[in-house]
Amino acid sequence: MNNKVTYQCPSNIALVKYWGKKSGGPQLPANPSISLTLADLCATTTVEIAYGNVSGKPSFQFMLEGQIKKSFEPKIEQFLTKIWEHSQLVQNQTLVIQSQNNFPHGTGIASSAAGFGALACCIADLEFELYGAYPAGFDNFEKAASFLARLGSGSACRSLYAKPAIWGEHPDFNSSDLFAVPLDADIDPIFSTFRDAVLIVDSGEKSVSSTAGHALLTGNAYAESRYKVANQNLGNIVEAMKSGKMHSFINIVESEALQLHAMMMASSPYYLLMRPGTVAIIEKIWAYREKTGHPLMFTLDAGANVHLLYPENIHTEAMNFIETELLVFCENKQYLCTRTGTAPKKC
Ligand code: PMV
Repeated sequence: MNNKVTYQCPSNIALVKYWGKKSGGPQLPANPSISLTLADLCATTTVEIAYGNVSGKPSFQFMLEGQIKKSFEPKIEQFLTKIWEHSQLVQNQTLVIQSQNNFPHGTGIASSAAGFGALACCIADLEFELYGAYPAGFDNFEKAASFLARLGSGSACRSLYAKPAIWGEHPDFNSSDLFAVPLDADIDPIFSTFRDAVLIVDSGEKSVSSTAGHALLTGNAYAESRYKVANQNLGNIVEAMKSGKMHSFINIVESEALQLHAMMMASSPYYLLMRPGTVAIIEKIWAYREKTGHPLMFTLDAGANVHLLYPENIHTEAMNFIETELLVFCENKQYLCTRTGTAPKKC
């Protein structure tokens, strides 16, 4: 019997954004979202069962890049406490967790989706190994791991699949608020070749955390309309992917990014996470697309960095565009390139 397991899990970028939580349960999305995994931005996590746990609360040790990381302990503790009722492993064992990211620190790239995804995979796998069942009664590894990952960081639950992942109930899909599922549809092959160049505009800590940002949707006068539009956008983006309608796809992706930030600006208190470089890059992308017709588009996370998405058949053009027109807006000329569409791997 194995008492140690390692998983590598990618981060993900949402095309239709999750922003706002439903009441009535932990980490339930107010609207459904869809994302692509970022193949080359990964966390690799090892969980080893050291000895039993009779303390009645989670027992663990956490190391990042080989160093004990006290500052991460409250987040891990909170996560293990949330999954406690679903996991015999957490209830009965002490977990030694070692994690590392394959992308540099200090780039402002959130690692929580990859980190919680990898940790959830390890726990689901070990739980099955030791107790012969997946956590929370799931009959399938991905669902169990996605369910656990969601309780660490909502968006992390979408990192489990090579296919685009949908999280949140929607009438057109067999989807759930509790875990993400892979998109069950034949999409135009071009959308499986997408790459993401993450342009680092600001590597600093965000002034408002995602947790605080989600909470500000409660009481936001535009929230209900936003949730309605997100539902429509999910249906429409999947139609665009099925029929290969790149123009509609780009429209939805960019509109979703701007709506995410519009919700921040329309919150009370209001705030702004875009920086001048963010806006300059967006305008450069629009001008370049207009001039060349190349299907390059942007999306944004809850931060200032810009994700430049494009199909791989224009990789050379995209690199050239970044080097000549966009690098000037990047902090220390930093950007990270990744393919999309990989699932977590057991190492
Ligand atoms: O998973 P959280 O709670 O960090 O929320 C992040 C949500 C966004 O990244 C802004 C959008 C998304 O759907 O990933």
